[in-house]
Amino acid sequence: MAQYDVIIIGAGPGGYVSAIRCAQLGLKTAVVEGRETLGGTCLNVGCIPSKALLHASHMLHEAEHNFASMGLKGKAPSVDWKQMKSYKDDVIGQNTSGIEFLFKKNKIDWIKGWATIPAAGKVQVGDETHDAKNIVIASGSVASSIPGVEVDNDGKVVVDSTGALDLPKVPKKLVVIGAGVIGLELGSVYARLGSEVTVVEYMDAVCPGMDADVQRSFKRILEKQGLNIITGAAVKGVEATKSKAKVSYALNKKPDDVEVLDADVVLVATGRKPFTDGLGLEALGVQMTQRGQIATDAHWKTSVDGIYAIGDVIEGPMLAHKAEDEGMAVAEVIAGKHGHVNYGVIPGVVYTTPEVATVGQTEAALKAEGRKIKTGKFMFMGNARAKAVHQAEGGFVKLIVDAETDRILGAAIIGPAAGDMIHEICVSMEFGASAQDIALTCHAHPTYSEAVREAALACGDGPIHS
Ligand code: NAI
Repeated sequence: MAQYDVIIIGAGPGGYVSAIRCAQLGLKTAVVEGRETLGGTCLNVGCIPSKALLHASHMLHEAEHNFASMGLKGKAPSVDWKQMKSYKDDVIGQNTSGIEFLFKKNKIDWIKGWATIPAAGKVQVGDETHDAKNIVIASGSVASSIPGVEVDNDGKVVVDSTGALDLPKVPKKLVVIGAGVIGLELGSVYARLGSEVTVVEYMDAVCPGMDADVQRSFKRILEKQGLNIITGAAVKGVEATKSKAKVSYALNKKPDDVEVLDADVVLVATGRKPFTDGLGLEALGVQMTQRGQIATDAHWKTSVDGIYAIGDVIEGPMLAHKAEDEGMAVAEVIAGKHGHVNYGVIPGVVYTTPEVATVGQTEAALKAEGRKIKTGKFMFMGNARAKAVHQAEGGFVKLIVDAETDRILGAAIIGPAAGDMIHEICVSMEFGASAQDIALTCHAHPTYSEAVREAALACGDGPIHS
């Protein structure tokens, strides 16, 4: 068997990016992947297919709600769900084959199958054992459910995000458990396609971890779009037949009053857990955290020499781009360079319409630390471009800065293209910029980005358009 410098286990965004970086740095690299196609959860059953469905359903929403006012007359299109799914599958195919092309271009071997690590320096796939000076575990995560709820993606009634991307038809009634990123993105898709969507969330707000003003505005916007969101409610159980389900829940304030929701489909979106099955980590003595993640040091080294881990299997936000950054950084560490990830500047994006994007620390967390801060907020109602695309209502840019130095510590954006605009703030934070630096930078007119500049102006002498 070939002797590799690095074998990476898993071809998701963490693993495939790491492999490309390793190859670029001159390391002989292979990736073990058991799926039929490369790209992991993100490309096959996560980020990419959901974005295709979000785009298609947004187009329908525009046709139904905004075309007439823009002088585009005629009957709104109807949904051909089979075709929409095949468009989604085509988008997946283009992206997964793109990774295969990149592997060939960079001379990375794809070892097909599921890996076990019998010992440091050895990776077994089926009957074959391969030698590797370094092993990087990038095996990702799987959806986790809650007690009393059994997911059965094949049954198509109680599903996780994978099942929800491939339903046989658009359900009449969809109940979503969990108002996190997955619940709200896929809840939005089906609400736009005509489902009656009810989201049940345990916490008192959507998207736990965001600032309260962001959560409130986001919830209001989603409710206006037709999502019924019940917060502060714990799901007690789901009873499913072959074609229907009943979801019982109780408000945390009234735990004894159990309510029941009827559903054609239930989407369980209550988080994900690291996927390490079959790797043989226990026998190897790889140290795990209490939450079932692989424990690593600051250079992504596990407790066993020569074995590294990155992405959803280790600590930190379960985000494709966090895994990608770690993938590049660990490649550099293995190649003897200085790989680094700034965990303080990792954006988070919810791809609804409008999008929600955050970076850095929240206002609440900084206040809890006793840090002296000020905030600059600018509503998209004052942004000409957002008004032109019907996305001005309810959204805003909020910059959170140090009260004395004006240095940017965090930000949140609810608005059109928020997921792209957040990067202006990310780069600013990487350079230790102040709000004034953004305020003094000329921003093209008319753009959504002007709202970022206005929020920066709001940290100083005041914004112009509010
Ligand atoms: P999440 O952690 O974002 O949200 C789960 C939600 O379920 C939380 O709000 C939680 O309070 C709620 N919950 C838990 N138990 C409950 C119960 N018994 N009853 C009612 N609500 C309950 O997890 P999600 O949405 O499943 O996503 C999984 C991971 O995938 C996350 O780490 C997320 O960041 C990532 N992801 C990121 C995307 C993006 O960046 N756009 C898209 C999709 C997923």
